[in-house]
Amino acid sequence: MVSITTTLARRSFLWAKNLGVLSTFTYTTDSSTNLKDVLAKKISEHNKKVASFRKEHDNTEIQKITIDMIYGGMRGIKGLVTETSSLDPEEGIRLRGYSVQECQQLLPKATKDGEPIPEGIWWLLLTGDIPTKKQTAAITKEWNDRAGLPAHVGQLLDNLPSELHPMSQFIAAIAALQSESQFAKAYSRGVPKSTYWQYAYEDAMNLLARLPAVAAKIYRNLYRGGSSIGSIDEKKDWSGNFAAMLGFENSSFVELLRLYLAIHSDHEGGNVSAHTSHLVGSALSDAYLSFAAAMAGLAGPRHGLASQEVLVFLDKIVDEVGDDVKDKNKLRYGHAVLRKTDPRYTCLREFALKHLPQDPRFKLVSDLYEITPDLLLEQGKAKNPWPNVDAHSGVLLQHYGMKEMSFITVLFGVSRALGCLAQLIWARGMGLPIERPKSHTTEGLMKLITASKDNENFWLHFGP
Ligand code: MLT
Repeated sequence: MVSITTTLARRSFLWAKNLGVLSTFTYTTDSSTNLKDVLAKKISEHNKKVASFRKEHDNTEIQKITIDMIYGGMRGIKGLVTETSSLDPEEGIRLRGYSVQECQQLLPKATKDGEPIPEGIWWLLLTGDIPTKKQTAAITKEWNDRAGLPAHVGQLLDNLPSELHPMSQFIAAIAALQSESQFAKAYSRGVPKSTYWQYAYEDAMNLLARLPAVAAKIYRNLYRGGSSIGSIDEKKDWSGNFAAMLGFENSSFVELLRLYLAIHSDHEGGNVSAHTSHLVGSALSDAYLSFAAAMAGLAGPRHGLASQEVLVFLDKIVDEVGDDVKDKNKLRYGHAVLRKTDPRYTCLREFALKHLPQDPRFKLVSDLYEITPDLLLEQGKAKNPWPNVDAHSGVLLQHYGMKEMSFITVLFGVSRALGCLAQLIWARGMGLPIERPKSHTTEGLMKLITASKDNENFWLHFGP
């Protein structure tokens, strides 16, 4: 096998030669900008920490589980390890400890006072460190290099019926990309387990590089008469190229896309998409299979499809002036974990206040934000009456001309790839086993309760 350093040095040389900057740009040979090298060190250090923690605490109990939690979609059961982010009910998501607002302030940007670039989120999710501009530039460069789609994926997309939902097309294309899986090939060669994460990393990098082209091709096929997505511009970042492939060149739209792709990336491990890719990945299915499964979950109306439903609902409100404001199911107010306004909602609102304060749909969303929480509280209809990110994202995209509601969840999917794939790499790096929780029957649960009443120490001895 060609060593990583040699490969990267060669790539660096070719790229530099193309741009005529050979003497000044050598970042890919500098270990501090080589994400895979940085990650190797982090994983090894982390595994030592986990080993000594587990040695001491493997049998320590941390949570009581109620019957309501079991019937209620395992709500509140903390049974997963996810290193990339954690969700606080009051303050929202923290990516490696950084709030959404801190990420906006600290991560490298493509323009002055602009939004953080998703390449920085990727670095942060994988390493826990805020990257430098040079480090994010190295990721941009790698993704631009790896962005080419295999011919069969383009052909597949061209042959799908236009009635097939964009999310189904997205899933089909991701599954077809599996022909490229380095993990699957390495596994059948029989490589050591300790190197699994390295192949997962390569798959993740290739998949992330190609997802914008997949999404843009679906968009162009369905809504722009099958026009070409064009080719990668080395001078543009991931979002810049994605916007151009979609056919949107407006610089504020590109900023919105950067923000959108950054903030939808990760929402700890329990949400349906992240949990699905974790579960499927735990069977040692590769990144393509795991992420395709995750996207099947994101396509559900209780998860990512909600952002599409919000737009349909807003249209309805415009037609019927306010009658359906009480229909909380379609409002996407409330969240399984959050008990305050989603900070991702807040930063999209701030973006709107800065770039499109007069947009009529934004004003409608804003009015709903004023009246709905009180209304829902008054009616006692929701524990959490505050909006989450899905209540806002679509109207911003519509403002810039991306009006095709059924495509919005695909954008969510491109962003969520950052979180799902970072989690997958870490799961392989930590050598996590197959996920195999135990289930109950109702009869079994009833017996357990009766037995526990008879013997107060029952749970200590025979707990489920
Ligand atoms: C997400 O971003 O995944 C959603 O807010 C849903 C969730 O966290 O359960």
